[in-house]
Amino acid sequence: MSPLDVPESSVFQGGLIESEIEPMNELTIKRPDDWHLHLRDGDMMRAVLPYTAELYGRAIIMPNLKPPVKTVKDVEAYRQRILDCLPSSHGFQPLMTLYLTDDTPQEEIQTANKEGLLAAVKLYPVGATTHSEHGVTNLKKVYRVLEIMQKLDIPLSIHGEISDPGVDIFDRESVFIERELDPVRNDFPELKIFLENVSSKTGVVYLLSAESGLGATITPHHLLINRNNIFTGGLNPHMYCLPVAKREVDRQSIRKAATSGDPRFFFGSDSAPHRQVDKEKAGGAAGIFNMPTALPDIVQVFETEEALDNLEAFMSLNGARFYEFPTNPDTITLEKTAASVPVIEYISADGDRVSVFQSRVPLFWQVVRGLRRIA
Ligand code: NCD
Ligand code: ZN
Repeated sequence: MSPLDVPESSVFQGGLIESEIEPMNELTIKRPDDWHLHLRDGDMMRAVLPYTAELYGRAIIMPNLKPPVKTVKDVEAYRQRILDCLPSSHGFQPLMTLYLTDDTPQEEIQTANKEGLLAAVKLYPVGATTHSEHGVTNLKKVYRVLEIMQKLDIPLSIHGEISDPGVDIFDRESVFIERELDPVRNDFPELKIFLENVSSKTGVVYLLSAESGLGATITPHHLLINRNNIFTGGLNPHMYCLPVAKREVDRQSIRKAATSGDPRFFFGSDSAPHRQVDKEKAGGAAGIFNMPTALPDIVQVFETEEALDNLEAFMSLNGARFYEFPTNPDTITLEKTAASVPVIEYISADGDRVSVFQSRVPLFWQVVRGLRRIA
């Protein structure tokens, strides 16, 4: 069977049905949140933001701009630029993060905390992924900052890959867990940590062994592709992201975790737009833009796994609980259509196209109530 699971039947078999009289092809859940998102800036942000803001209540905004969002001032200004792209009455809430560097002063965290500005601090091991050049070279260098974060209860969000070029790229998550994450958790037992975009069975097993304080986001593409997809029909840069998609056994393990309802796993799109010209070249950028297809893709994964009852936990409840935010007060409703819904292949942004992630399976679910159109 293809790693891209297609639900055979278009008949909805179960799930979150609000009442007996509601049709079987409708599904209502609390408005979801995205706990890992790249919005970029300027024209690119204006192009991609509506796909998030119309559907999601909140999103954790990644700080890996060029230059990075590494001071309280940067965070405030970036937040304002995001809000300026939205109508004033719009309910979408960007949750901001600070880019941790070797030199981040403790005071920066204290100031941000006073202003209630930070949802998390983001750790990029230097060189591990896109725009991580200013990342942390050695975790020991940021121990003073981690101390204050632990004290102030500010979570650490981690790109969990070792950047040692001597480590096989498919092992970088598991080696990071062993060499970096586990020691940090031992040294800071009260620090709340998110392992972002967990992509391996080792990662899932590690999460499951953690009693408290460790959560993980899961992307739609890691639920849908394995590493074969990067090479199917020739090298496909649009399937390239970091952490890189791994073996089928890893994908299966992530699917199990996501659809299990386990409160440690929740949705983070890692939607990461890049211009086509930056993807389709030697040294092409890592990152997959999936926002337009993320929700229908995920609903179908849950449907295939016969786990629609756990969709709301994954999309709308678990992340909020972990970040200690209230769940969104309103709901969205999805409907399963008889014919597949049209999917856009790319959007225009920044003078170029941005390819939209395609799982190459027909999509049947669409949001019919709860969208908050921007214009
Ligand atoms: C992200 C990006 O493009 O900013 N790329 C990616 O492959 N996921 C950075 C990241 O989150 O690793
Ligand atoms: Zn990311």
